[in-house]
Amino acid sequence: MASIERMTALAKEISEKTAIVTDYLKAKGLDAPSFDVNGLDQFPIPPEDEVPFKARLALAAATKELYDISVGPKEGLRNLAWDSANSISLHAIWEFKVAQAVPLEGTISYQDLTAKVEALNGGLPIGVLNLRRLLRHAMTTRIFCEPSKNQVAHSRVSRLLLEDEPLKNWVGFMCNDLWLPMANVVNAMKKWPASDEPTETSVNLAYNQSLPWFDFLQQDTALNNRYNLAMQAHGSAEGYSTDHVVNGYPWGDLGDATVVDMGGNQGYISFAIAEAFPNLKFIVQDQAGMRTPETIGKVPDHLVERVQLTTHDFFTPQTEVAECYFMRMILHGFSDKYCVRILQALVPALRKGSRVVINDGGLSEPGTASYLEERAMRTLDLFMQVTVNAREREAEDWADLFARADPRYQVKRVWKPEKSVMWFIEAEWTGD
Ligand SMILES: C[S@@+](CC[C@H](N)C(=O)[O-])C[C@H]1O[C@@H](n2cnc3c(N)ncnc32)[C@H](O)[C@@H]1O
Repeated sequence: MASIERMTALAKEISEKTAIVTDYLKAKGLDAPSFDVNGLDQFPIPPEDEVPFKARLALAAATKELYDISVGPKEGLRNLAWDSANSISLHAIWEFKVAQAVPLEGTISYQDLTAKVEALNGGLPIGVLNLRRLLRHAMTTRIFCEPSKNQVAHSRVSRLLLEDEPLKNWVGFMCNDLWLPMANVVNAMKKWPASDEPTETSVNLAYNQSLPWFDFLQQDTALNNRYNLAMQAHGSAEGYSTDHVVNGYPWGDLGDATVVDMGGNQGYISFAIAEAFPNLKFIVQDQAGMRTPETIGKVPDHLVERVQLTTHDFFTPQTEVAECYFMRMILHGFSDKYCVRILQALVPALRKGSRVVINDGGLSEPGTASYLEERAMRTLDLFMQVTVNAREREAEDWADLFARADPRYQVKRVWKPEKSVMWFIEAEWTGD
């Protein structure tokens, strides 16, 4: 009977959470998202409005659990295994630019749509039946709709493929570029058992090449652009906001200090922190390729006294002696072996009390985050394996990394600022 009680409890929770969300929206004169072509594409509930924000997360978790119970374990597993077919229709829609061929207003017949899609693809014969089956499959995931028989129209989801450039590239990157690597993860694990090398990944195996991920990307301009735009779609979420970096760490406590922003790209994060903390100076290090006359970024005029863009390879001994070393979105891109090397290369510059501040991905203890967050972080962790043989880390993994690099590192704190997706890890150098 426990399962019957669980179903009843979930239904009650769904009803309660729905009421919290809809009451909030009504009070604010806002709408909920919908699949109607002109509907909202996401919930207009900022994380600051904590109660409805959390109610929506709980609603998603409860509906998913109730759905899973309704389907049942046996049918659920059968479905799970062949749901990879979702990527077939999505891939085809992306590759053949179907969203461009469907009018935003009104409908188009499969016949006319096929002619338009074929023309968009240099006359490649696709065929009405193939296109129809792909679209009708996609419609089961709410991409396009068929308001009357044989007439196709946009839904709010398919319209995103037309208008949202970063998201469109995210779709292409996942369905096109990572499709073969995903299918080769297990093969790569067999070919290179327990590898922590960035050149022994499923991307290397799938594309039969031996370059590390970023070198591989840079060989192909279209792929590189797609990756960059896809990362915008991923990183533009509120939880990745620069505000969380500026407000999530007590930068002011460093006093009159210099922060070395290692792998700091063109410095945009240092600029934001420097704006808020006038006592801090920043040395933003990155690879030489990012600092040629053609590639180097520009420090805003009012910050030139306090922020410098310089060159340093973080695998080589650190030469700048400073109070604080900062790494954002660096270590999650490397396996433990290489992270240990990066932390060891810092040692020559460290003095008693120097800080190392990491702002990076992190894994909560299983079952402690909301269902949506848990899925997102576990999926991201898998993708770190696919592309670079790296991983996301739990609090104790971070501590372990520093301990392996040098016992004189002492991890003081590992925390995730409220509403941030990214974690902070703070270590202090206890040696001389
Ligand atoms: C994911 S980006 C993070 C950039 C920035 N910290 C941020 O938070 O947006 C990784 C950065 O590390 C730099 N990088 C990669 N390998 C490096 C190396 N060996 N030494 C220094 N920088 C490196 C890349 O050029 C890139 O700017």
